[in-house]
Amino acid sequence: MLGLVVLLGVFILLLSFFIRVRRPKNFPPGPRPLPILGNLLQLDPVNPLKDLERLKRRYGNVFSLYVGTQPVVILNGLEAIREALVTRAMEYGGRPNHIMISHVLQGKGVILANYGSSWREHRRFTLTTLRNFGLGKRSMEERILGEVTHICKELESSAGDLIDPQNLFHLAASNIICSLIFGERFSYDDPIFLTLIQWLQDLTKQSISPWAMVYEILPVLRPLPLPFRNVFQKCDEIKDFISKIVTQHKHSWVAGEPRDLIDSYLDQIDKTAEEGSTFNDTQMVSLLLDLFIAGTDTTSNTLRSVMLHLMTNQPIQDRCHREIEEVLEGRVDASFEDRHAMPYVQAVIHEAQRMSDTVPLSVFHSTCKDTQLQGYQLPKESPSPCHRWRCCFSIACKSDEALSKCQSGRQQEDLQLSTFTGRAGCVIQNKFGHNGDS
Ligand code: HEM
Repeated sequence: MLGLVVLLGVFILLLSFFIRVRRPKNFPPGPRPLPILGNLLQLDPVNPLKDLERLKRRYGNVFSLYVGTQPVVILNGLEAIREALVTRAMEYGGRPNHIMISHVLQGKGVILANYGSSWREHRRFTLTTLRNFGLGKRSMEERILGEVTHICKELESSAGDLIDPQNLFHLAASNIICSLIFGERFSYDDPIFLTLIQWLQDLTKQSISPWAMVYEILPVLRPLPLPFRNVFQKCDEIKDFISKIVTQHKHSWVAGEPRDLIDSYLDQIDKTAEEGSTFNDTQMVSLLLDLFIAGTDTTSNTLRSVMLHLMTNQPIQDRCHREIEEVLEGRVDASFEDRHAMPYVQAVIHEAQRMSDTVPLSVFHSTCKDTQLQGYQLPKESPSPCHRWRCCFSIACKSDEALSKCQSGRQQEDLQLSTFTGRAGCVIQNKFGHNGDS
């Protein structure tokens, strides 16, 4: 194995003497790539974000890298991201179809589906159905508060002991999605539920592992039984799990009386059956898988970071506590409407989201046609990850005093732009009053 690696290294070095990878004309600048590997050796496989910061300082807010032979444009800063996601939203509305996870998900569902009628119809369906089942309304709050009761019970039962909240928050976030999709929540020790959560975590981890990079840059290896095949297997297992629940639903489904998202989807298949519809069983399973993937890790990791920051910043925690108590005036539960009266708590949440960097490069966008950005020329199908959170704020809001400054509308506006705007902004964006295209 070592011999093979050395041989490959020598081969690539030799090639780099003879072959120069040429950037397209007026393409964003970046470090010189090697043949086959591109710039991968210049990135830390464990924390490439630090390298992206370094490259940004050297090349500016819009620069390019080669992942293998594939050029990728990295966008930083509000100006560039606003131009791509707002001003030129349609041109940057594609999704790259070469990365491993898009092969795993086969471009179905919404997250990695390319711009087209299937994505449009499924996104609209998802937004409408989530709203019908309470997103941004009182009924969703009740679901969330119900789940919070279970989290508190778990935390109380381990009071005084050490606890790793990772699984707990994953289970809770996933349960809210389960209640929307399947119409039921699972208990935290349900073995089937625990297996599903484990599979989801494995799927996300493995799809960004070094083996995913190998899959990416060396297409000849793709048919081989190497560890990256586990991702495909994991995905099939989750899809089988979801399919079984869909089959059970079909037995009890009553047309026009949806209990949850699956029932609504069955209604949709029924309604659009004769119009060359994009709604079908395979797409349904992919959409459901998407919602789990998109909603579980993100929410759970954000919660964990918020907890960590609050635990390590006692004065900030105390001030949040005081503000909440003042606003609730003895009520037990906070409601989403209370946020207007809790500017400090809101600022803390936004700042913790920025610091936690939950989806640091967002979901990759890709150009749908030849286009421009900040004076550069980008050909069709250039993947463009947005280095988002970093662009949000210029102040490091670590101290209590600085946090007070962050309570401005500007902070919230930047946060919304960075996650919830654009052709394919997060589907929970309407909660914040941005409906995007729908
Ligand atoms: C703190 C929690 C969350 C964060 C930080 C987050 C972040 C994001 C980001 C950065 C994107 C990519 C937007 C783009 O491509 O421009 C996205 C897309 C998406 N999110 Fe979220 N998300 C969160 C929670 C959720 C939840 C709870 C759900 C589901 C119930 C969800 C469903 C989706 C879907 C379906 C997409 C793909 C939209 C499309 O491509 O049309 N997200 N999210």
